[in-house]
Amino acid sequence: MRVLGANKGKTYFGKVLRDGGVAIIEDGKLIVAIPEERTSREKAAGGFVYSLSAVLNSLHITMNDFDLVVLSTCCESEDRARLGHHLEGHKNLITVNHHLSHAYKAFFQSGFDEALVVVVDGGGNTFSNIESENWWHLPREQHSYFVADKTSTRLVDRDFFNPYEVGFGELYRAFTYYLGFGSARFASQTMALAAFGMRDRFGKRYCIQITDGHLVVPLENDSNDPIGMVRHLGQTIGLDFGEPREPTEEILSIHRDLAAYIQMCVEDMFIEKLRWLKDNFPSKNLCLSGGFFLNCVVNGRIAKEGLFDNVYVPSAPGDSGQCIGNAIYGAVSHGTNASIYTFTCKKSEDVALGLDHTIDYPTLSEVLVNSGCQTYVTFEPQSLPTIIAKLVSSDTAVAVFEGRSEIGPRALGHRSILADPRNEHARYYLNQLKSREWFMTFAPVIFRDRCQELFDMWVESPFMSFAVPTKKDICDRIPAVVSKDGTSRIQTVERGSATFIGNVLTQFEHTTGMPVLLNTSFNRGGEPIVESLQDAVQSFSQAPINALVLNRFLVVKKLTPQFIELGLLASSYDIPIKIHDREEGETNFEGNTPYELIHWIQHNTGQIVFVRNYFPLYKEYIKLVDTHKKQTTTRFRPYSAEIPSRILLPLLETDDFGKPKTNKITRWAEIVGITYKRFGELTDEDANKDGFESTHAMRDKFTKEIYPGLKDKDWVTIYSIRWNDGGAIQLQN
Ligand SMILES: [Fe+2]
Repeated sequence: MRVLGANKGKTYFGKVLRDGGVAIIEDGKLIVAIPEERTSREKAAGGFVYSLSAVLNSLHITMNDFDLVVLSTCCESEDRARLGHHLEGHKNLITVNHHLSHAYKAFFQSGFDEALVVVVDGGGNTFSNIESENWWHLPREQHSYFVADKTSTRLVDRDFFNPYEVGFGELYRAFTYYLGFGSARFASQTMALAAFGMRDRFGKRYCIQITDGHLVVPLENDSNDPIGMVRHLGQTIGLDFGEPREPTEEILSIHRDLAAYIQMCVEDMFIEKLRWLKDNFPSKNLCLSGGFFLNCVVNGRIAKEGLFDNVYVPSAPGDSGQCIGNAIYGAVSHGTNASIYTFTCKKSEDVALGLDHTIDYPTLSEVLVNSGCQTYVTFEPQSLPTIIAKLVSSDTAVAVFEGRSEIGPRALGHRSILADPRNEHARYYLNQLKSREWFMTFAPVIFRDRCQELFDMWVESPFMSFAVPTKKDICDRIPAVVSKDGTSRIQTVERGSATFIGNVLTQFEHTTGMPVLLNTSFNRGGEPIVESLQDAVQSFSQAPINALVLNRFLVVKKLTPQFIELGLLASSYDIPIKIHDREEGETNFEGNTPYELIHWIQHNTGQIVFVRNYFPLYKEYIKLVDTHKKQTTTRFRPYSAEIPSRILLPLLETDDFGKPKTNKITRWAEIVGITYKRFGELTDEDANKDGFESTHAMRDKFTKEIYPGLKDKDWVTIYSIRWNDGGAIQLQN
């Protein structure tokens, strides 16, 4: 059974909704989930036009291949989800309530037997079929509380469901506007600024009350006038919040304190509500869902209070994860064999559900060339995590594109920028790169088994969901990832995790002793997180960042001595190197540093440069090597000229013209000269030295088998080789 979950981009009456996306469950397994913004390239885009098209293409299926389509909406009634979009006519389309979808996502991904499930966001469905742009005039969902177990997910309580009531999501949004941050999307700025303020500037005069377990905010909602709402709230409770801040205005102490005040109010009152819920609906497990729980300071506080043994926040607790909730709801409630554990999601690798982007060198080089990045140098190191750990530990931030993207607003290692948390400057540099406010903090990724050494309290946080207090003596050691209030928004990783981020962390710990990396999402200010190879290269080309991982490749804009120290490049090339061009004749390269060589190649051939660190060789040709009938090896890479990482490179046998299956080194190739030629200018002598009878035989083999698509105008790299067994020389990178 194949189920599609998606959330609408517009209400039936035309209100634009945010954070769309699609998820697919196939035979009880979540196989893909991607937010709309990643494919439309519009930040926080709603709906599913681009994302649906992308997954259908990727999986080679059509809408007819879905047995069930589950849609949700908000700011209108639940059943309106079936109207006003291009899937309206699907044969088996059902709808799910907005908050119930959030609850399903959190509970079924938690792996708990039973739990109290709390959903808080800016608003879900209305309980009315009246169509109104002023949806807050209607009864609606804002806070919903469920009890879930193996057999049911049951609504047990709500807050703020009457017309005009203001829930925590709307309240926080209003303060975010008041503080000049523009929209609810920037609520994280209010949260970050709160760490710099005094929570007690206004005493303990809360703007939220709780009576008999029910939360009250003495304020009427006017979603069109959030600033007026805060002003009115201050007047009502007798507090002077000062004037609203203009977006360009300096941040003053009143603004910091106001951020701290609203953070204190929602935290303290939410804890009171949880106490009441726990008393009335006892459970040792708590699931938190809805966009409000992107507030990792609130989540950290809830964990710290210890009311529940286990607290689970899913990745993408906001509406970008709603597509998953919808799909799970469909799979669980409509006849699949899904058990409550089918969708358990507790590791960062469980949420790498984006599109599959295989990267081969021809595609990569074409994207690099089309992006105008001819001056970049590409490597394919053997031990990429070690190289990255060393680059990061020497203050080089590295952008990472690895495997499938993670769903959710936080990159967890697949679409990340990694930096050294020990370097305070990294925070300023990355805030500039991402056009963020100076006070925004970055998150550490850390091995779970070393959390106790670094933090006063910690919690399982694979999705960067909890801010926890950092030990005092540690704060100064990792200043780039500790907030002003001493907390860190941790991402915990299991030791031994075979993920790329886990491997880099292992190597970073090995190099520095510190089991922590700064991990932030790979995007520039205002951009969604990169999804495709093209997005990654474009973002990289325009950002002040020097190194980019693209699956097994490393692309570097500017070479520095550290690339020689890391063994990625020879310090000199004391061999004859020449460029042969029919019109220009033969040019001999006189320089001997890699920088000069690369510049010379790029200038003379217009090609990008790939640094080779081993020779794969088809086993049929090995005998030509052994009988000295092969003195050269001629290599082609689209749009590229090659240089070797050093003069002695290992020879790895292959079963065909592909990659070697093992790194077992049987022979070594000592490079004694390099010539760059256009393929059409190869002579019989070139062919003979490479072990071919004639240019005709060589051209036939090259264009039909080894390098299909190779044209006469393309540049090839000819290595003159002296073969030897290499003795005890080891492969270094
Ligand atoms: Fe929501």
